[in-house]
Amino acid sequence: MLAGKHILLIIGGGIAAYKALELIRRLQDQGASVAPVLTKAGEEFVTPLSVSALAGAPVHRDLFDLTAEAEMGHIQLSRSADLVVVAPATADLVAKMAQGLANDLASTLLLATDTPVLVAPAMNVRMWEHAATQRNIATLKADGIRFVGPNAGGMACGEFGPGRMAEPDEIVAAVAAEFRDGPLSGKRIVVTSGPTHEPIDPVRYIANSSSGAQGTAVARALRDLGAEVVFVTGPATVRPPEGVEVVPVESALEMQAAVEAALPADAAVFAAAVADWRVASASDRKLKKSKDGLPTLEFAENPDILKTVSHMTANRPGLVVGFAAETNDVVDNATAKRLRKGCDWIVANDVSPATGIMGGSENAVILITDTGAEEWPRMAKQEVAGKLANRIAAALDS
Ligand code: C5P
Repeated sequence: MLAGKHILLIIGGGIAAYKALELIRRLQDQGASVAPVLTKAGEEFVTPLSVSALAGAPVHRDLFDLTAEAEMGHIQLSRSADLVVVAPATADLVAKMAQGLANDLASTLLLATDTPVLVAPAMNVRMWEHAATQRNIATLKADGIRFVGPNAGGMACGEFGPGRMAEPDEIVAAVAAEFRDGPLSGKRIVVTSGPTHEPIDPVRYIANSSSGAQGTAVARALRDLGAEVVFVTGPATVRPPEGVEVVPVESALEMQAAVEAALPADAAVFAAAVADWRVASASDRKLKKSKDGLPTLEFAENPDILKTVSHMTANRPGLVVGFAAETNDVVDNATAKRLRKGCDWIVANDVSPATGIMGGSENAVILITDTGAEEWPRMAKQEVAGKLANRIAAALDS
């Protein structure tokens, strides 16, 4: 998968540095060579000896190492790789990158490089959520820096939340995605997936039972054809694919904002099961039982994201694909829906309980385009996604 690729791996100073050792192995298993760089703080967590022994290469540690400079200057080192990976990237390293500081070897390499950079942040949840870190991340994303993770979960410091470094396998998948070459390379595609949660109060919400399986499969298939995928997902039960930019959202309003922020794009696929209504004014306090009777919830209509994007004038993606789950008159209903929503294609399916499609692993879809309805045989959801991704690639190519 990564044969002949040279990775410059910068290991920052966090407890997740131990996973960088595993990462070196996994990258090598895929055929990559790894040139390791260890920050001063990184040395507190893993030894230069273990890093260089695993990498089978000297570990670079010092900006003013004259022997190393004589052999390969730091500018050269920063440019000799096909990809620079920063794992773990601490809050400090992220901040330095965002500011363009260059006061040690790692930050100097990152400022001097003209190679793509993939960052795997790892830090305490409060540090990750801090406005300063989020500002820095937004700055780096705007600069074209790629991210993998962080994941949510238990942390070494005893807290729980986002901030755990992505697992070595996920980082390898993200690295592979950087090199993937296919008919969709260079194309940016937004995919929505999963249900939405519409808050009633801080602890209650209205949801639906979408698992996110089909949307996830579509994102994975597009990624496999080389697309840069922005995956805007509600709280789904299936894990998002690796090697895509995951934007987690809760409500329809958040999903709409995330989709709009992800534009412009070459195509957009709306596979999410977006709630049609939200509670008009969700309470900011937990609703209490009352002897005065039951609470009354007032609803407001959610924006139709597919329709809004389909009708955009400035930023409309070249190809907009919607999904339609129907229980009767599938072709007629879906054809009418395509026109009503203003999208280019509708992927329609019959979700009557007898079909076993809802929640199942297979799907039988009809692709509705401006030239009519095309029935596909029943197949696995991943195969539907693969076929759809190929059709998208063909459409964007023509
Ligand atoms: O109107 P209906 O829910 O049947 O339409 C389904 C399609 O519209 C799907 O592609 C879904 O992702 C999209 N949709 C949307 N925003 C909504 C409702 C549906 O993007 N508020």
